[in-house]
Amino acid sequence: MTTFAEPHQSPALLLLGQKTDLASERGVECTGGLPAASDPDLVERAKTARATLGDRAFILGHHYQRDEVIDFADITGDSFKLAREAAARPDAEFILFCGVHFMAESADILTSDHQKVILPDLAAGCSMADMAEINQVEDAWDTLIDAGVADATVPVTYMNSSAAIKAFTGRHEGTVCTSSNAEVALRWAFDQVGGVEGNGKVFFLPDQHLGRNTAVLQLGLSLDDCVVFDPRKPQGGLTTEQLRDARMILWRGHCSVHGRFSLRNIEEMRAKVPDVNILAHPECKNEVIAASDFVGSTEFIIKTLDAAPAGSSWAIGTELNLVRRLANAHPDKNIHYLDSTVCFCSTMNRIDLPHLVWVMESLLAGRVVNQIVVNDDDARWAKAALDQMLALPGI
Ligand code: 13P
Ligand code: SF4
Repeated sequence: MTTFAEPHQSPALLLLGQKTDLASERGVECTGGLPAASDPDLVERAKTARATLGDRAFILGHHYQRDEVIDFADITGDSFKLAREAAARPDAEFILFCGVHFMAESADILTSDHQKVILPDLAAGCSMADMAEINQVEDAWDTLIDAGVADATVPVTYMNSSAAIKAFTGRHEGTVCTSSNAEVALRWAFDQVGGVEGNGKVFFLPDQHLGRNTAVLQLGLSLDDCVVFDPRKPQGGLTTEQLRDARMILWRGHCSVHGRFSLRNIEEMRAKVPDVNILAHPECKNEVIAASDFVGSTEFIIKTLDAAPAGSSWAIGTELNLVRRLANAHPDKNIHYLDSTVCFCSTMNRIDLPHLVWVMESLLAGRVVNQIVVNDDDARWAKAALDQMLALPGI
């Protein structure tokens, strides 16, 4: 049983997570010749193009993608699994990344020079990643230097950040993390500066919620150990004393999709559905995570539902494409969307079948469109940070 509306029918449909016209900001070509979404032959065109490309192409699909796209994915996964899968396909000439911009950048960094990574719609950005720009991050680091704390601070960036910011963490001997491995990555980072019990700090970018949730609920730090650095305020809006006392310096960023879930949603769900299990993504606010029964990445959410007994009830706090797919895959379980209003990630949703067909047919016509290329210097340092993450123990 599901409790949410069809995507094209609900007047209350919300599409969040989109920054305006990212494609034109990034100076990219427009998608002339895109097939119409109403083209009755679209699925057949997609099947033909996919079959003709054969082993030359490998298609990765993030769990938040639309069903029409997931149907053509060679593999699906969370951002961590997809980064590993991209790195493990050295023979594919084209990696078609059905996800968002920062994920395609990571794939470009982790694949060989002869491979081309394609993002079917260049407007598929991530509003959270866009909340941290490299110049702001460099300025913030200068602030930490001036406050005398940079030497005892390790930068850790969430996968949801630009290649330039991953390169920043590589240059400063930090690491990258995803929602699957944030605890291990943070423990590693603290170990570089005296351990979780010591006095060292982590500068965590750009998702304050993932940073806070991991520090407080998994590492045992307190909410008072965490401060929020606001890049629009002088010295991040913090006193020198606050910077010196903090253990976690959290960038003021968040996900506009996961930020919607509230404690009230949980209270209402518990009142409405007896024995409901609340399962949420760690990008949700701390009070939501603290009140949830299970917390984890998209991959964790899928595995938890797979293992759940028939008849059990679940309310899921993550993006709607995934929750709808889980509800369809588990008709024997009672699956609800945690928010009362349906909500997709609008930028993930930008990748649709017309864009996928367009890039595949363009490749077959000898035209490489929407290639994602990270400059050599950023790629080198971002790779150092990503390799550091991929080498973390036990992940
Ligand atoms: P995952 O790391 O769980 O794939 O999440 C990525 C993301 O963008 C969540 O909003
Ligand atoms: Fe970014 Fe949030 Fe969309 Fe994930 S769900 S891609 S964090 S805007």
